[in-house]
Amino acid sequence: MAWCFFLVVNLSVFISSVFSSPTPLVERTWKGMKYGCKCYSDDECWPNDNSWNELNSTVNGNLLVHIPPGASCHNKFDGPLGAVSTYDAAACAEATNKWSDESWTVDKPAAGLWTYFTNDTCRPTTNPAAPCTLGYYGVYVIRAQSRKHIKAGVDFARENNLRLIIRNTGHDFIGRSTGWGALVINTHNFQDIEFTTEYDGPGDYKGGAVTLGAGVQGRTLLTQAHAQKPPVTVLTGECPTVGVAGGLVQGGGHGPLTPLHGLVADTALSFDVLTADGEYLTANSEENPDLFWALKGGGPSAFAVVLSVTLKTFPEQKTAGVFININSTHTNDTDLFWEGVRSFHKYSNEIVAAGIYAYFELMSLRLHVKPIVGVGKTAAELEAILQPVFDEFKAKGIPYDTGSKEFDTLFDLYIDLFEDETAGTSALTGGWMFTHQDVEENNDEIIEAFKTVTSPRDDLKEQGFLIGHLWDAGLNVPVSNSATNPRFRNSTNFAIVALPVPFGATWDQKEDLQNVLTNIQDAAMRKAGPNGCAYVNEGDPYQPDWQDRFWGSEYPKLLEIRKKWDPQGVFYAVSTPGTEDWEVIEYGTRLCRRTE
Ligand SMILES: Cc1cc2nc3c(=O)[nH]c(=O)nc-3n(C[C@H](O)[C@H](O)[C@H](O)COP(=O)(O)OP(=O)(O)OC[C@H]3O[C@@H](n4cnc5c(N)ncnc54)[C@H](O)[C@@H]3O)c2cc1C
Ligand SMILES: *[C@@H]1O[C@H](CO)[C@@H](O)[C@H](O)[C@H]1NC(C)=O
Ligand SMILES: *[C@@H]1O[C@H](CO)[C@@H](O)[C@H](O)[C@H]1NC(C)=O
Ligand SMILES: *[C@@H]1O[C@H](CO)[C@@H](O)[C@H](O)[C@H]1NC(C)=O
Ligand SMILES: *[C@@H]1O[C@H](CO)[C@@H](O)[C@H](O)[C@H]1NC(C)=O
Ligand SMILES: *[C@@H]1O[C@H](CO)[C@@H](O)[C@H](O)[C@H]1NC(C)=O
Repeated sequence: MAWCFFLVVNLSVFISSVFSSPTPLVERTWKGMKYGCKCYSDDECWPNDNSWNELNSTVNGNLLVHIPPGASCHNKFDGPLGAVSTYDAAACAEATNKWSDESWTVDKPAAGLWTYFTNDTCRPTTNPAAPCTLGYYGVYVIRAQSRKHIKAGVDFARENNLRLIIRNTGHDFIGRSTGWGALVINTHNFQDIEFTTEYDGPGDYKGGAVTLGAGVQGRTLLTQAHAQKPPVTVLTGECPTVGVAGGLVQGGGHGPLTPLHGLVADTALSFDVLTADGEYLTANSEENPDLFWALKGGGPSAFAVVLSVTLKTFPEQKTAGVFININSTHTNDTDLFWEGVRSFHKYSNEIVAAGIYAYFELMSLRLHVKPIVGVGKTAAELEAILQPVFDEFKAKGIPYDTGSKEFDTLFDLYIDLFEDETAGTSALTGGWMFTHQDVEENNDEIIEAFKTVTSPRDDLKEQGFLIGHLWDAGLNVPVSNSATNPRFRNSTNFAIVALPVPFGATWDQKEDLQNVLTNIQDAAMRKAGPNGCAYVNEGDPYQPDWQDRFWGSEYPKLLEIRKKWDPQGVFYAVSTPGTEDWEVIEYGTRLCRRTE
């Protein structure tokens, strides 16, 4: 009996690994349309326990059933594989305290920092009887420890037609590292970092470089770069906990060194990847150059899984930082406040032309510009560049506060002046880039658009906010060498637009707020910036014409490359090349391809 069972199991494993063609899409009809969908736990095609156990042994026991991070506050987690008891007072106290802590959230197997995209169905609570369900999380997670584990996950998802999610840090603003019913591969353990002072790969570049694993975050990388002798630096995002080899480089990536070296993607020299077919490859200017180019800004989770990336390093330099604040401590006069914003933004072309980077937050009666970064500059030099702004503030009687600081290196500034951000926010995000010409010709319209963003509708007064970034990605890299939108080479201000969504919002409320984001807030930004474009990592994926807005003239080439490297749609991230006939149907759950 036992032997017989053993033989049957092994035979079926043998048949499925040798003879199976990929599981076909699951037919469904939704709102009168026909679809072919990925396979989910309530479908017959869902792999049986033996298959999951086999996957678990291939990944050396690193497969886990995903339990949402707030489950410890609830008596039970009612997941798709059945209910499990989850209440744990100590773990619940921790989850409650750390819910908005970036690092705590990053370390969870599949949590998303922007909880809107998890559907928020299992938040920490003081009522353990409150329900806890999966929401839009994956069902299983592989905490990959080796390349072989990533391959096992990609092969399993492809062969069984499962929705596959690659999850690095969970920072994604638009929910691309979470997905209902998916198999998740967590890449956070890929922490190798190796520096060289002389890159010896293909191409003309012979300077310093660093090869980093898929899971490395900005601060870790910069800390190790700073410890080199002599210290070097790398182009990363402004946020210390964003991953580098995941969404950042694959979406483009901007940071404090953008005025000097362009986008993160522009600094990439080579990638080691796993393809949708399960093949290990290197992509650089000689090997698989089409894939290399697409990975540099063509969209995350679209062309391959990145295992490691090699980026250029740069010598460290002294750096100066300045902050400017105008808020309700200084004035409650709304008109005067907006005059201040207008004056600041009016000089943004001059600021970026001087090679300056600035990060700012803007909401009703709060302009917080911190930091303004001058790499290679003294505080006096940086303040001289900003003097026209201060002069105009004085001339118009605008109260403000400012200060400056000098550092031996950009790293010292990075650690001191970039501020921590919070997790656990439920919000929709969009965004738009304004070019030099837009600022030159339309600064007043741009300020009106900012007002529309902060108060998009009578019932949403002072609800929206904006995160601006001044940089010119074309200052020292006038012609793009990456797949990012060529319009970025004329950039002055790239600004994120955000609209909070209340917890427990109904589907109709969510649709309404999405409509406000796309057709009121972002529409005002687009109108004021006719020469600008959108950024795939910090943009509205549901805007019309996203192909042109995210990638401009590069889109047709990206579409062809996607069809070549992932014809079956093993990978998926909303509004990335080649996803136009894919849709998430049935209230944010099933991922399907339109078949009519
Ligand atoms: C607080 C905050 C600050 C930010 N600051 C900046 C900034 O200064 N500059 C900037 O350009 N952007 C910034 N971003 C946006 C950031 O670039 C994106 O959120 C990016 O997607 C994060 O990538 P990740 O890999 O860390 O996150 P994740 O959410 O884990 O992944 C993001 C996307 O990348 C895919 N992905 C991850 N790893 C891999 C891999 N190894 N192979 C293939 N696909 C992969 C995921 O599937 C997903 O689609 C910021 C975001 C936040 C939340
Ligand atoms: C995978 O195997 C490990 C180690 O044996 C075990 O602890 C874990 O529960 C298994 N995962 C699943 C989903 O069964
Ligand atoms: C998502 O949240 C809404 C509102 O709370 C709820 O009605 C819906 O059932 C949830 N969907 C899933 C898949 O969790
Ligand atoms: C603005 O209003 C707030 C709240 O009423 C108050 O605390 C603050 O002092 C006011 N600011 C000024 C400049 O008067
Ligand atoms: C306004 O800015 C000052 C610093 O310039 C800060 O101390 C204060 O807390 C801010 N006030 C508000 C209401 O944000
Ligand atoms: C950059 O701006 C210049 C001048 O406004 C314009 O001629 C050029 O076409 C722009 N480049 C791109 C790629 O949009």
